[in-house]
Amino acid sequence: MRTVYNFASGPAMLPRAVMEQAQAEFLDWRGTGMSVMEISHRGREFQSIVDQSIADLRALLGVGPDYDVLFVQGGATGQFSMVPLNLCPGGEPAAYVHTGHWSGKAMENGARHCEVRVAASSAATNFSTIPPRESWQVDPGAAYLFYTANETIGGVEFHDMPAGSGPPLVSDMTSNFLSRPVDVSRFGIIFAGAQKNFGPAGLVVVIIRKDLIGRARSTVPLLYDYASYSGHNSLLNTPATFSWYVAALSFAWIRRQGGVEVMEENARRRSGRLYRAIDAGDFYSNSVPAQFRSRMNVPFTLKDPALDKEFLQEARAAGLEALAGHRTVGGMRASLYNGMPDAGVDALVDFMGDFARRRG
Ligand SMILES: Cc1ncc(COP(=O)(O)O)c(C=O)c1O
Repeated sequence: MRTVYNFASGPAMLPRAVMEQAQAEFLDWRGTGMSVMEISHRGREFQSIVDQSIADLRALLGVGPDYDVLFVQGGATGQFSMVPLNLCPGGEPAAYVHTGHWSGKAMENGARHCEVRVAASSAATNFSTIPPRESWQVDPGAAYLFYTANETIGGVEFHDMPAGSGPPLVSDMTSNFLSRPVDVSRFGIIFAGAQKNFGPAGLVVVIIRKDLIGRARSTVPLLYDYASYSGHNSLLNTPATFSWYVAALSFAWIRRQGGVEVMEENARRRSGRLYRAIDAGDFYSNSVPAQFRSRMNVPFTLKDPALDKEFLQEARAAGLEALAGHRTVGGMRASLYNGMPDAGVDALVDFMGDFARRRG
């Protein structure tokens, strides 16, 4: 098999060991003679996956007993509605920090169920920065304060959690979940779609403080009420069983690697290497100031955009896939989630150096 490094922003590359284990167990899950995707979600076998995955995730992030870990469907986009549907039963105000595309989507979806109040925005810098915490105007009556921990398209990441007290903090960690330690006790809700850092699409993990469960109005569909999941061990209806199983393999793999601290070291080392290559000359550039740069998604442009197509074609031929930037911004983007090995970044940096020498 040809070695390919896949820099897609999600669905994205998973750790090879996880893929190999899924492959080895594909037809016969631990001696049952059945594939994990063929067994009942209500059976003893699948329950062991549910229990182990929750225990591993709790251990990885130090999730305390006052939090529930839920597995839901509907993508991270579903959470943009579930959060206000559950926390703003009467359409109350909610505060949002607008730092780019995904926080914008959260606001757009949220506005259908709550009164969106923008606490801060980095629109003036074309969403290449994070407004300083002191400048945020958080309505003290807001039901929650929402921010996007990593803007996948803009390549802007919060490197510290926002300080201060106030409304419960809600964070979309879809594109940097499990890539660093997080003090869960300071959050009301953390959610993350699986398809970047820990699994296939079709699954979202929600870590929610228990006192925030049970606030939805009775008109909210049961499927969108956190209480339905909390009360049924996330088995309200048939979950995305195969995605959940692969997520469970990923959690176990991260634990074997040494936990989220090791994922953080990896992310820092890999992204640092790529940013150094971008900054080394004037052929490539990234417009995000160093303190806001994402370790997960590295957007960059070529000095001469007329070379973009050639760059992408040659990269593909060299086994470096999915480097095109998001359709709304163009340019390039390399996503470096937990599944990306150092060798992938090395290969990309070597290719970029070679391309710049030939075409610069
Ligand atoms: C930060 C962030 N939030 C939300 C989403 C939307 O995720 P989904 O497609 O699972 O709804 C994405 C997808 O890329 C994302 O990067």
